[in-house]
Formats: sequence, structure tokens, C-alpha cells
Amino acid sequence: MYKKQLKELQEKPATWLITGVAGFIGSNLLETLLSLNQRVVGLDNFSTGHWYNLDEVADSVTREQWQNFRLIEGDIRHIEACHEACRDADYVLHQAALGSVPRSIEDPINTNRNNISGFLNMLVSARDAGVRRFVYAASSSTYGDHPGLPKVEDLIGKPLSPYAVTKVVNELYADVFFRTYQVPCIGLRYFNIFGKRQDPEGAYAAVIPKWFAALLHNQPLYINGDGETSRDFCYIENCVQANILAATVDNQQALGQVYNVAFGERTSLNTLFALIRDRVAPHFAEAEKAEPVYRDFRAGDVRHSLADITKARQLLGYAPQYSVRQGLDLAARWYIEHLAAN
Ligand SMILES: NC(=O)c1ccc[n+]([C@@H]2O[C@H](COP(=O)([O-])OP(=O)(O)OC[C@H]3O[C@@H](n4cnc5c(N)ncnc54)[C@H](O)[C@@H]3O)[C@@H](O)[C@H]2O)c1
Repeated sequence: MYKKQLKELQEKPATWLITGVAGFIGSNLLETLLSLNQRVVGLDNFSTGHWYNLDEVADSVTREQWQNFRLIEGDIRHIEACHEACRDADYVLHQAALGSVPRSIEDPINTNRNNISGFLNMLVSARDAGVRRFVYAASSSTYGDHPGLPKVEDLIGKPLSPYAVTKVVNELYADVFFRTYQVPCIGLRYFNIFGKRQDPEGAYAAVIPKWFAALLHNQPLYINGDGETSRDFCYIENCVQANILAATVDNQQALGQVYNVAFGERTSLNTLFALIRDRVAPHFAEAEKAEPVYRDFRAGDVRHSLADITKARQLLGYAPQYSVRQGLDLAARWYIEHLAAN
């Protein structure tokens, strides 16, 4: 099914808006869409995104494909920037937000402004521009304190952090805009996406890039808790597939819905550590003897996370092609190439 959609896009290129285009997920979406000869408008304020992510995409596509990209350096907190960005868009892939649970605990106001006010600006602009689809980055954090495993879309608990509140509110707004103004929204609840260009730097880095960097730089590597905390880690190419399917699916029943985007397998942090170390050690001998340092559990973290991906399979035709191990092989190659010399 995915192949069919890719072929149709190549035959009939469309104009896409990617917000958060200079970030991890946004830049990977950009790379795939440009390589499919699509026209792409990108919006980013570079708060957590990087110019070098865009440079890397420029190097990975042809000159002609790169010329199909237009960047707007702007902020989703400003409605004018959102209006300008949505103007010619057929499909919107809204990724811009301030990620990270701990960041939101430190600074809930700023998280709210970016993730709720910014989101509302994007919805209004998408509505006014009459876009064909508004796909947005939702989050597995929406499951909050609900104990059920695997996570099924309809069963959510109370949010455990300000970040999670913002992602729940996004879903509520999208649902209201779908019902009230017929904005064709689809929310994708991402579960721990990882892969090339995910930022290893800074206090709020995600676990996989942080651990690659620690091993490659021979620095201490921390596990919060006993290491038996588990997550459904999902390689970036699976996430890109979900976005393209969500944007192009014809089935009207698929609209106004949210979907888990994950691989559908649980990996503990202890196992993850071993998998990453196994991939770094052949290239960097010091990593072989590395051991994690265990410290306290982190506030706002859920103990286990595992997605049921049946709904995305059935309504979107989602079929993740990369397992956690395959994804880690590819991510390792990228981190070794980019971090080993630094
Ligand atoms: N990476 C994951 O595992 C994961 C999991 C769940 C949800 N998400 C969501 O996916 C989206 C993308 O996440 P990511 O991992 O690529 O993060 P990222 O930080 O790499 O990318 C976010 C991008 O949005 C931009 N941005 C932030 N605020 C903005 C604003 N006000 N105006 C314009 N641009 C702004 C940043 O500069 C950055 O380029 C986010 O909405 C995030 O909440 C990610």
C-alpha cells in the first residue's frame, strides 16, 4: 500500500508544509519528500532545530530536488507566519513543538505557548487555507497513568506532565476542528522515535542519541531507575511512512482520528543499553567495557510503554518496515560517522 502511494506522489507531485522542518523528525520527512520530487515549504524558528540538519538533507538530494524546498524562518506562535506557510500547502505535517517531559516540568508556560497556542494557530491557518490534510505529531505521553498494555487509542489516563497535557489538548482541538470546520485532521501518537539527526546534545536529549554520544565520547551513561523500564522504540523510517500514509489515505473513515505510531515491541532500558553497546564496540574499543550508572527514577516517566498498532495498520495501511535492531544498526552508523571524531 505504501509503495502505491509513493508511486502516485511521484507521478503527481504535491506541495507539503513541514513545521519543525529543521528538527529530527521534520528533517527526515523533508529528505524523503524531496527525494520523491515533492515541493516542500518548511517552517522553523530553530529553537531546538539546526541549520546543519537542513545542510545534511541538501547533501542527500539532487540540486533540482533541493530547489523544490522553501524555508520560512518563523514561529508558530505568530499567526502571520502560520498563514504564510499554509498558503500553498496541499498537505500539512505539523511537527513543530517543544519536546521533552523534563523541559515541560521546568518551564510549563513556554511549553504551553509553543505546543498549544502554536498548535491552534496552525489549525486556524490550515482551516483558512483549505488544506487537503492536517497531520500532526501527537504523543504516547497522552496515555499518562492508564495502566493498560498494549496501549489502545481509546483508553487514555491522566497526563503525567505539562508536555503530556499539551499533546492531549492538541488532540481535543484537532477533533473539534474536524467536527466544526471539517479540517481533515489526523493525529499520530509517536512512541519514542529514533534515528539519524536526533539530537544527542543538551539537557533534554532523548535516551538513544544520548547513549550513543556517551559511549562514543567515553563518558558516563545513566539509567534512570533499575533499567527494567521499557519503551516501544520506533525507527524514523516507520514514522515517515505513517506521515505519508496519513496525508494521502483516501478512506474517509480514517480522518478525524488518532493513531499509535510505533513498532509494536517492548525493549527494556537494560536491553537497549546492550544493543547500543554491541553496535558501538566494534568501532570504539572503550565501549566494550562500559557499564551504565543507575540513578533515581525520573519524575513524569511512565514505567512501561507498548503500542497496539492495529488501528494504523487497518485504517492507514501502516506496516513498519524497520525493527528496533535494524533501526539501531542504521542509527549507529550515523552516530559513529558524526560523533566519533568529536
Ligand atoms: N522524537 C520523539 O520520539 C517524539 C515522540 C512523541 C512526539 N514527538 C513530537 O514530534 C514532533 C517533532 O519532534 P522531534 O523529535 O523532531 O523534535 P525536535 O526538537 O528535533 O524538532 C522540533 C522542531 O520544531 C521547531 N520548533 C519548536 N518550536 C517552534 C515554534 N514555536 N515555531 C517554529 N518551529 C518551532 C524546532 O526548532 C525543531 O526544529 C514534536 O511535536 C514532538 O512533540 C516526538
